[in-house]
Amino acid sequence: MLSRKQTPPDSPWKEKEEKLLHYSKSKEPNLLMTILNNPHLRFGAFVFVFLSAWLLLLLFWFPPKITITQTTTPNVVEALLVPDQDTQEQPKSKCEDPSVSVYVYPLPAKFNIALLDRCEALNVYTDMCPHVANHGLGQPKPNMGLATSWFATHQFIGEMIFHARVENHPCRTHEPSRATLFYVPFYGGLYASSKFREANLTARDELALELVEHIQSQPTWQKHNGKDHFIALGRTAWDFMRTSDGPDFGANVLLNLPAVKNMSVLTVERQPWQGSNQFGIPYPSYFHPSTLPEMLTWQTKMRGATRSYLFSFIGGPRKGLEKAAVRNEFIRQCGESTRCFLMKCGANGASKCHEPSEVLKVMSESQFCLQAPGDSYTRRSTFDSVLAGCIPVFFSPHTAFTQYKWFLPAEVSEYSVYIDEKSEASKRIEEELLKIPTEKVAMMREKVIEMIPSLTYAHPNASGLGFKDAVDVSLASLANHVNNLVN
Ligand SMILES: *[C@@H]1O[C@H](CO)[C@@H](O)[C@H](O)[C@H]1NC(C)=O
Ligand SMILES: *[C@@H]1O[C@H](CO)[C@@H](O)[C@H](O)[C@H]1NC(C)=O
Ligand SMILES: *[C@@H]1O[C@H](CO)[C@@H](O)[C@H](O)[C@H]1NC(C)=O
Repeated sequence: MLSRKQTPPDSPWKEKEEKLLHYSKSKEPNLLMTILNNPHLRFGAFVFVFLSAWLLLLLFWFPPKITITQTTTPNVVEALLVPDQDTQEQPKSKCEDPSVSVYVYPLPAKFNIALLDRCEALNVYTDMCPHVANHGLGQPKPNMGLATSWFATHQFIGEMIFHARVENHPCRTHEPSRATLFYVPFYGGLYASSKFREANLTARDELALELVEHIQSQPTWQKHNGKDHFIALGRTAWDFMRTSDGPDFGANVLLNLPAVKNMSVLTVERQPWQGSNQFGIPYPSYFHPSTLPEMLTWQTKMRGATRSYLFSFIGGPRKGLEKAAVRNEFIRQCGESTRCFLMKCGANGASKCHEPSEVLKVMSESQFCLQAPGDSYTRRSTFDSVLAGCIPVFFSPHTAFTQYKWFLPAEVSEYSVYIDEKSEASKRIEEELLKIPTEKVAMMREKVIEMIPSLTYAHPNASGLGFKDAVDVSLASLANHVNNLVN
């Protein structure tokens, strides 16, 4: 019997699978007839087919597992993750969506990768160096599974992962004349957070203005006045929509610029009222698989998880009047209930709620996960919750319903519970959740688990992924949107 530990690392298996597929495709039909008519060859063919099926079965049940020791030095980690020769020789997968043909602007480095040179200064609260490693996936978490698939990914780093994934996407074109979509890979979120405390507004907005000037000078812009252009931002729209009358939270004016208003803006949180050209994309979670079997294995595991808590709340109290009241109320209700698991996030940073494996553990042991609005409407926690097969409970329509229409079922009660934060029901959450029949809960959970692939950012180096991830869904929806705009 094969044990998990003995299974060789990723690439040999992948390579074998590729070769088998290639072999069977390249055979001529008359050769097939020859094989079938000759009894010796027929037996050989039977053995071959049987062994292939067995190999695929093994691959499916025992996904390759490699163990590497964790390190906090980005360079060492990168070295470990550079794929070996076999992986690099694999043929590129084909673009499966004929409506998508995306051109990636070769922007001057100051708009993206050169920003990483000062990674310690990219966020006024945190050193981003460990988080920008591995093209934004962050540090590997081998304690959570395959070291190439699980990472302690930072919540505001989606723009880097999106970039890495599009650069390697089968629907990418290097020929502007063939493109239906023009991607402007600006690391706007990292830039914004590096300037939150910049008092000089001219200096704070400088790079955004330079970007717009650069893009508008391109011949490809003029054709449709930028209507076929898009940017993807890892932070909320509020960070790019400074108003002259409101309080200054440190935002710049990127999304208020006329040129950017002509473009589509993908962001983890859209401005629900002024964001008609803004589209919500998922916050990145921790799982970045490269193959369909890996995804299926995870989904199966979440289907079978024992969920002994009715609900859970992971979060900390907030300063500020209204938000604090709602959160403190949830913390109180959860703390008082024997059916709730409360994971309190302190300001000290030592708390378990910054440890991805602890967060997913609690969520995968819970039937419902409360999604209280945080500093803004949306939360990364919503996506962690879906990944863990935990049904999200929302208290504002802007936490998900008005945000991620490309990704979520239109009928919100199929996958979530909504309790208005101002309603009486929000004062007795446990009672409300207990009212939902068991069969209904099972159906909702199944829906949530089915949503995992399209809310996941696959590994940027994956080829022949076998399922549509968040970037695939974004590009397809965007192509449809742009097609309606320009034709
Ligand atoms: C993807 O592969 C390239 C080499 O082909 C490597 O430089 C890069 O670091 C890999 N990306 C990730 C996220 O591991
Ligand atoms: C503000 O920043 C701009 C651009 O960097 C600079 O030219 C200007 O001198 C600065 N103003 C002040 C008052 O420091
Ligand atoms: C935006 O598009 C309109 C046409 O819909 C065009 O007139 C305008 O010049 C464009 N703005 C910019 C800044 O390119």
